Amino acid sequence: MKTRIIGTGSCLPKTVMTNDDLSKYMDTSDEWISSRTGIRERHLAVEETTASMSIEAAKRAMENANVTAAEIDLIILGTVSGDFVTPACACEVQAAIGADRAVAFDINAACSGFMFALNIANAYIQAGLYRTALILGAETLSKIVDWEDRSTCVLFGDGAGAAVVRGDENCGMLSFDQGSDGAKGDVLACPGRANNNPLIKADQTPRYVHMDGQEVYKFAVTTVPASLQKTIEAAGLTPADIDYFALHQANIRIIQSVSKRLHVSDDKFPISLDHCGNISAASVPILLDEMNRKGLLKPGMRVALSGFGGGLTWASAVIEW
Ligand code: UT7
Repeated sequence: MKTRIIGTGSCLPKTVMTNDDLSKYMDTSDEWISSRTGIRERHLAVEETTASMSIEAAKRAMENANVTAAEIDLIILGTVSGDFVTPACACEVQAAIGADRAVAFDINAACSGFMFALNIANAYIQAGLYRTALILGAETLSKIVDWEDRSTCVLFGDGAGAAVVRGDENCGMLSFDQGSDGAKGDVLACPGRANNNPLIKADQTPRYVHMDGQEVYKFAVTTVPASLQKTIEAAGLTPADIDYFALHQANIRIIQSVSKRLHVSDDKFPISLDHCGNISAASVPILLDEMNRKGLLKPGMRVALSGFGGGLTWASAVIEW
C-alpha cells in the first residue's frame, strides 16, 4: 500500500504587497529583496485568518480529489501561526467542512510542517488505521514577524495549501526522510505569547520571529541536498530520474544551490516564491497545487518534495504522481 496524493488546493489572501510597497514602510528596495531572495511580492492577510484560508484550500483539494467530507478519516495541519492555541486549526477545518468522522490535530514543525503531516498520514495509512487523509500547511506569518526587522519581515507571506491523500495499491509515496536538530533551534525562533502570570516579572522581550539568516542558509544548502539524495536513493532512483523538485520556497539562491549540488537543471525546480514569498508550512502544498493546476504533473511522474526550516527540521519525499 502506498500513500497517493489524489487532489490539491490552495488559498492566498486577496491583498498583495510588492517589494516597492514595502519600501514605503521601511528602508528596503525591490533591488535588495529580489536580488537576494527572488521574492517580488507576497500576499498578506487582512480579513483572512489561518483557519479561513485553510478551509478554502481544503474545499478546493477535496473538489480536486472528488472526495466528500464523509470519506475523510484524518486531518493534520502544519502551522506555527494558528488563530488559537486551542482549538487546533485542523479542528476548525473539520467543523467547517463537516468531516464528522475525522480525527483532527495540528503539528508544529515550522517550514517542514506539511511534509511532517504527509509522513504522519503515510504512517497511519501504512498501519492500516486510516484510508483517506486531508493534510494542510497554513500560515498567517504577517502576525508573528517583526515589522521593525527588515532582514526578516520582507521574506514572509501568508496562505494555505492542502492535499488529499489515500492508500493506493499502485502508486504514491516511494520513500521518505525526515529529521530535526533541536540544538540549533535558536537560529530561527519565535518566543510567542506574552505571559501575564502575576508571579513572573513582566518580560518586555519582543515576541516576534527572529532569525540568523546566514546560519539558516548554510543549514539549508547542506541538509536539503543530502536529504533529497538519500530519499531519491531509497526510492531506487537517481536525481536524473526525478521529473520535478517541489522545494520549500525560502530563497531562490537556496533552490539554485540544491539544483547545482544534485547536478539537475533548475528547470525542474518550479517556483512560487516570486509571488508568494516564504509561507513556511504552506509553501510546499501551494507550489504543488500550482503545478497540479498548470497541468505539469502527469500520471507516473516522479516528484521529489522537501521542506526545511525552524526547529531546525527537514523532511523530503519522493512520490509517484
Ligand atoms: O524557511 C526558512 C527561513 N529562512 C531562510 O531560508 C533564510 C535563509 N537566509 C537568507 O535567505 C539570507 O541570509 C537573507 C536573504 C535572509 C539575508 O541575505 P544576506 O545576504 O545573508 O544578507 P545579510 O543579512 O548579511 O545583510 C546584508 C546587508 C546588511 O547591511 P550591512 O550590515 O552590510 O550594511 C543588512 O543590514 O543587507 C542589509 N539588509 C537589508 N537591506 C535592504 C538586511 N535586510 C535588508 C532589507 N533591505 N530588507
